[in-house]
Amino acid sequence: MSAVLRGTGLRHSFGATPVLDGVDVHVASGEVVAVMGPSGSGKSTLLHLLAGLLRPDAGTVELAGERIDHLSDRARSQIRLTRLGFVFQFGDLVPELTVVENVELPLRLTGTRPGPARSRALAMLDRLGVVDQAERRLSAVSGGQAQRAAVARALVHRPAVVLADEPTGSLDTVTGELVLEALVGAARDQGTAVVLVTHELRVASYASRDVQLRDGRVVGVPLAATRS
Ligand SMILES: Nc1ncnc2c1ncn2[C@@H]1O[C@H](COP(=O)(O)OP(=O)(O)OP(=O)(O)O)[C@@H](O)[C@H]1O
Ligand SMILES: [Mg+2]
Repeated sequence: MSAVLRGTGLRHSFGATPVLDGVDVHVASGEVVAVMGPSGSGKSTLLHLLAGLLRPDAGTVELAGERIDHLSDRARSQIRLTRLGFVFQFGDLVPELTVVENVELPLRLTGTRPGPARSRALAMLDRLGVVDQAERRLSAVSGGQAQRAAVARALVHRPAVVLADEPTGSLDTVTGELVLEALVGAARDQGTAVVLVTHELRVASYASRDVQLRDGRVVGVPLAATRS
């Protein structure tokens, strides 16, 4: 399988301390990769580099075989809007908008008409079990409901790649499974490549493969090697 998203030799420092020290990671269409590692090991930083939210100090990021790391901010934003979905660890939905307005945003910004955008957003919210919250302001829903709305927004425009940073972090087992099934379903049904950061083995078990980060590098025996 050829990679749709590939990071090669990624290095990144905040100040003097390197956070990532030469990380290679790739994901193919239809594949779900779990990124694991202790708090502070650089998982979020890696996702931000892969999404073009941060530029690496060294190394490259390729989307469908083309380098994106050295593009302008504007070009990288356009790529994120059209070809990537991102679920942030600490959320980045718009509190003043309703839940459904937040979810349809990527569609509206790329020219989908209001009617179809609304129905696709509602269908995705339904899949994630929060369609009953659709018309409420984001600022009025619970953390777990907002998190599911964030996942719906990351998937609604059927991106080639979804990067999800602890998307089940504030969810109970049942709603966490709705999120995981939506992500795995996008991989299976639409060939979306999914990169999923998690601390939980239960969550990682949904992945086809996992990548373990320690001290800025990829290490160790993948969990997948220990499963049949
Ligand atoms: N904007 C920033 N400025 C300075 N240091 C940062 C910044 N973002 C992250 N760091 C540092 O980089 C290191 C890696 O952070 P990162 O958020 O990537 O870790 P993580 O693996 O996602 O951790 P967690 O599991 O707690 O979310 C940490 O030591 C963190 O303090
Ligand atoms: Mg993190």
